[in-house]
Amino acid sequence: MAAENVNPSVNTSSDQKGNGGNGSSPIIDLHNIVKTFPSAAGEVTVLNRIDAHFYQGEFVAVIGKSGSGKSTMVNMITGIDRPTAGEVLVGGVKVHLMSENKLAIWRGRNLGIVFQFFQLLPTLSLLENVMLPMDFCKMYTPRQRKQRALELLERVEMQEHTTKLPTAISGGQQQRVAIARAMANDPSILLADEPTGNLDSKTASIIFKMFQELAQQGKTIVMVTHDSSLAQRVNRTMLIVDGEIVNEFIARALPLLTQDQMLEATQKAVPMMFEPGATILREGTPGDKFYIVTKGRAEVALKRPGGSDVVVMRPGVGEYFGEVEILRGGTNIASVRAVADSSVELVALDRETFMELLAESDVTRDAFGMIVEKRLAENIQTRTGDAK
Ligand SMILES: Nc1ncnc2c1ncn2[C@@H]1O[C@H](COP(=O)(O)OP(=O)(O)OP(=O)(O)O)[C@@H](O)[C@H]1O
Ligand SMILES: [Mg+2]
Repeated sequence: MAAENVNPSVNTSSDQKGNGGNGSSPIIDLHNIVKTFPSAAGEVTVLNRIDAHFYQGEFVAVIGKSGSGKSTMVNMITGIDRPTAGEVLVGGVKVHLMSENKLAIWRGRNLGIVFQFFQLLPTLSLLENVMLPMDFCKMYTPRQRKQRALELLERVEMQEHTTKLPTAISGGQQQRVAIARAMANDPSILLADEPTGNLDSKTASIIFKMFQELAQQGKTIVMVTHDSSLAQRVNRTMLIVDGEIVNEFIARALPLLTQDQMLEATQKAVPMMFEPGATILREGTPGDKFYIVTKGRAEVALKRPGGSDVVVMRPGVGEYFGEVEILRGGTNIASVRAVADSSVELVALDRETFMELLAESDVTRDAFGMIVEKRLAENIQTRTGDAK
């Protein structure tokens, strides 16, 4: 069972969780956010009870179809817009409760914001554009501001153009300057809404690398993007569908589902937690759930003829088990428990939901068919090996 079920192609590394797995508290915490807008047809719910956490040093790509609510979510974090309900905590500060005046200064000091259309002030030189956030927030002495702006422009390789106006440089160059401006007050968080949306792919890649470097320096980066190749190169991808966040582990374990199916699976998934050493599945009982590990590690144990058991596999974050039994309608042929030294968290889909999803998704059913074949072949191999 589980020993053989775990799909080795699923990413098991902890990088997908950023620092989320180590118990530290998130630097950005969206709690139960609802955002509605009035429309001719009545209220429209654009964000529907969103919970999202971002940890220091994470580079997260926010993806989803046009109109799914990506920008609205980012606007909650920046305080550019306020939630209808719910809480926004950034660095422990309750952003949704802050007055407009305080917000502007707080934002300028704590957040770097990069937009799709750069939004440099057209009448100011590049140097003045980069100095502006420091002037506005009264950060550093005036002399330091100029020095710092020059250094930032050098860092984005725009030191030769400091006296030019934004209109005199290319889009990619404007975006570099916008990144320098976003870094002016040395914020720990960078928010970018489609920062490469208006750039050719080569320039987009250069801009993306700049964000990567900043993440490596410990900045937390939230980047909305439509570019799936860029979205694959970050620590974590957050998919928004119809104003709700798809469970990232479900998205990764069932990547061939449609976005709507992923959301359906998210809504039906049940989170579970097991204390260190606690039994998750008992050998011989019916296999009736599909489990994905979301935190910690489980271990799969087979009973030896003498009564002792042997651990054959330790599924970690992103790995799953239970599908072979469901697909073959059998009982669990091994026991699964949380490892002895830490608890394990899982999301579980019940048998009916799992079978329904597969029935609606030929590609997913075929993929699991192949996984089951492979696991069973490995199972036979393990058992033959055991018998020797
Ligand atoms: N100020 C507003 N008033 C009314 N409706 C709004 C407002 N802002 C956004 N919406 C609606 O909310 C929904 C989500 O918008 P949002 O801009 O967050 O989507 P998005 O995911 O960023 O899309 P895109 O990829 O096109 O940028 C859309 O249906 C949009 O029309
Ligand atoms: Mg948008």
